[in-house]
Amino acid sequence: MAQVQSAFRFVQTGAQIGKIVLSANPDEQVHVVPQPVGVTTRAQLRSDASYLVVGGVGGIGRSVVQFLVAHGAKNLILLSRSAGDLDLDKNKSTDGALFLRELRDMGCRVKPVSCDIGLPSSLTKTLRACENDGLPPVRGVIQGAMLLRDAIFEQMTLDDWRSGLSPKLYGTWNLHTEFSQPDSLDFFIMLSSVSGVVGIASQTNYAAGGSYEDAMACWRQSRGLPGVAIDLGPISDIGYVSTSSKVAERLRKDGDFIMLDEDIVLRALNAAITHPLDSRPQMIVGLNSSPGPQWDANGRSQLGRDARFLPLRPITKTSSSSAEGESSGASLSSLLSSAADTQAAVEFIGSAIATKLADIFMMPVGEIDLAKPPAHFGVDSLIAVELRNMLVLQAAADISIFNILQTSSLAALAALVAEKSRFLQSS
Ligand SMILES: NC(=O)c1ccc[n+]([C@@H]2O[C@H](COP(=O)([O-])OP(=O)(O)OC[C@H]3O[C@@H](n4cnc5c(N)ncnc54)[C@H](OP(=O)(O)O)[C@@H]3O)[C@@H](O)[C@H]2O)c1
Repeated sequence: MAQVQSAFRFVQTGAQIGKIVLSANPDEQVHVVPQPVGVTTRAQLRSDASYLVVGGVGGIGRSVVQFLVAHGAKNLILLSRSAGDLDLDKNKSTDGALFLRELRDMGCRVKPVSCDIGLPSSLTKTLRACENDGLPPVRGVIQGAMLLRDAIFEQMTLDDWRSGLSPKLYGTWNLHTEFSQPDSLDFFIMLSSVSGVVGIASQTNYAAGGSYEDAMACWRQSRGLPGVAIDLGPISDIGYVSTSSKVAERLRKDGDFIMLDEDIVLRALNAAITHPLDSRPQMIVGLNSSPGPQWDANGRSQLGRDARFLPLRPITKTSSSSAEGESSGASLSSLLSSAADTQAAVEFIGSAIATKLADIFMMPVGEIDLAKPPAHFGVDSLIAVELRNMLVLQAAADISIFNILQTSSLAALAALVAEKSRFLQSS
């Protein structure tokens, strides 16, 4: 058995036709990989209960609803700010209306309701209306509301902050308030995001909402109430990311996440439904723990820069003998510490900035003309964050996003960095 790996390698070579037999010695220990929770146990839902899905007519919401129906649900309350419109005559040929018709044709009772869950009165009114309509009591809640208002924090308006946060923070609190009676629910699941775990520079509002959902799951479980937050990574075939190749490409390029698909999302959902209380309250699905440039401490990804993720980092030759980026970062700092004069330091910094931009824009470093402003190369606020992180780590200079975006040229930026660098001040 100890040779199982070589046996498979041998099969791979194609040198052998026929069987290869492995035998276990009596004293040999065979490692058994436990089956992931929820993979084999199929969720069984009640036909005499209602299930509430917030965002149930959205991208992932529809897939979630189909899953619930396939597992026995017959009564569905689907909430979103505009869900009720799908029953209007003028919308009868829209995708959303066709989705509802399919569910009804399958014998389900479906109530789409327009409701802003960020407003407690709106949610309470909706739930009372469902009761009055004779829908059975809600036994399961899935919170999948999201509103993206992305911007770098320094450029985020208060309105963006509130709008992005509200469905997840106030919405989740309002749902919790409505469903906090012991034994009233079989499950309470929040579709949260890895954004709250890793931190995406342009999504502080969304990330804060996701972290709130994670905390809510812990808190509910600590009080004996069902609560699981599924922190999903980007999904390639359903939901918002699947509709924007630009967003998908950016997330893929960052390298922090692996692209998920519908099947994985539904497996995670199945696990959360079948283990509403005895599993971990926070399920993180989609961090890229395989070897790769995302572990570079000075790279564009968060994973390598944040010590919290160290336990996930694969032990490879590259990581154990210090990542390439770390050594290049160390060399800029030592170059600055030993720079003969400010002019020499400015040149080192200019060259590091050019290398970084060449890497980001995948162009030869010789094409980065330091006399040009950052905007000339397409530096936007997200890339400015990357540049700032690099300058903080490698030049010990705290430069604002504003400074980077507004500087008249990369050379002027290099001069500003030299002026602020702690390496140069101490020499
Ligand atoms: N797509 C991904 O790759 C991905 C990755 C990680 C996590 N997630 C999570 O998965 C869930 C679903 O995402 P999705 O991709 O399917 O997005 P989506 O298609 O935009 O769905 C979000 C839904 O939330 C509803 N909503 C927004 N604000 C609301 C409010 N105040 N009250 C009630 N409903 C509200 C929207 O409908 P109205 O506009 O009509 O209100 C929409 O139906 C979200 O919780 C998200 O955080 C998605």
